[in-house]
Amino acid sequence: MRFILFFTSLAALAVRATLAVPPYGQCGGSGYAGSKECDAGSICVKLNDWYSQCQPGSAPVPTSTPTSTISTTSTSTTTTTTTTTATAPASSIPAGALTKLSAFGTNPTNISIYVYKPANVKPNPGLLLALHYCGGTAQAYFSGTQFRQLADQRGFIILYGSTTNENNCWDNVGASSLVHDGGSDTLALANAVRYALKEWGVNRDKVFVTGTSSGAMMTNTLSGTYPDLIKAGAVFAGVAMGCLKGNQPSFPADPCAGGQISHTPQQWGDIVRKGYPGYTGAYPRIQIWHGTADPAVNITNQNEQVKQWTNVHGISQTATSTTAGTPKSNWSKSVYGTGQVESYTGQGSGHGIPEAGTEVAAIDFFGL
Ligand SMILES: *[C@@H]1O[C@H](CO)[C@@H](O)[C@H](O)[C@H]1NC(C)=O
Ligand SMILES: *[C@@H]1O[C@H](CO)[C@@H](O)[C@H](O)[C@H]1NC(C)=O
Ligand SMILES: *[C@@H]1O[C@H](CO)[C@@H](O)[C@H](O)[C@H]1NC(C)=O
Repeated sequence: MRFILFFTSLAALAVRATLAVPPYGQCGGSGYAGSKECDAGSICVKLNDWYSQCQPGSAPVPTSTPTSTISTTSTSTTTTTTTTTATAPASSIPAGALTKLSAFGTNPTNISIYVYKPANVKPNPGLLLALHYCGGTAQAYFSGTQFRQLADQRGFIILYGSTTNENNCWDNVGASSLVHDGGSDTLALANAVRYALKEWGVNRDKVFVTGTSSGAMMTNTLSGTYPDLIKAGAVFAGVAMGCLKGNQPSFPADPCAGGQISHTPQQWGDIVRKGYPGYTGAYPRIQIWHGTADPAVNITNQNEQVKQWTNVHGISQTATSTTAGTPKSNWSKSVYGTGQVESYTGQGSGHGIPEAGTEVAAIDFFGL
């Protein structure tokens, strides 16, 4: 052991100047072959079997555990507001700290919702719902992605969902979660969005969802079941809506994540349309991110999602443009239709996305 450590640190010393991983970059995980050394000031934190991440060890991050809970009062909306401060968006929420909501409506699966409001929140702000991977938590996704820093820069509010059910995986499996107002996690998450719209002056044209792995799968599931609420989604290492139906929520061993499930665009589109029978409005724009070397959720799932959402939008499955080196080297971007669907492929990237520098492309896609 000592032997291995010795050589590891020797090697690390020799290559640190060129190979150390920047903050929020990947530093380990099954199938990962890159550097395991973090830049000075960061430490490598294991988030799950597939992904370890360099997280700033001593950087001033706002409180990452709830410091207070908010009491919700359903009567407050009837109050006539005459003071100037009362018009500030989400004035009941402390700024700059991750804060747990004590209530946000019917919550059949007893998930938790945390809110992050930046110090300079815009009037009529946008809202991003951000969802962790299996084994994750709201706190881990808050500190492990750059969405919070982007909210600080651009003045939108973030809701971080958190579940302790099914190995901290979201319910992308059960029939009730796959249909509008059917119950389970999708209803709970939709109610959190409805709560934000009702109580905080959020702009209903700027409600977005993103997530990684299980949270990415839920991004698709929510986009299909609540197209009336969600305007666009960004999916990091996910699968098409309905792909996991009937399988175990702990997805790694199942045929869908393994890349063995393929449907026609029409079949995938029908799964989405059955998520909200009778709905005739617009569907969310969808941005799909996947690494070619993802050992947990096979890259084949990227094209299955492209088939699903291009069918829902009634556009061609052939990209209208493909651009290499976007948003950074080894990633390429494909656009479908006039941008209703975007797909980003990371050559050599694994399961640990978003990678640093990709979150901003999602936020730009949303128009936040
Ligand atoms: C709901 O989850 C909270 C933790 O977030 C826990 O304290 C509480 O006991 C749970 N309630 C039920 C009914 O399981
Ligand atoms: C994805 O699945 C294909 C077979 O469908 C397989 O050849 C490939 O190795 C898998 N990729 C990864 C990264 O496991
Ligand atoms: C980009 O891909 C090349 C091979 O195509 C690989 O050698 C290189 O390590 C990759 N760079 C990153 C940052 O992953």
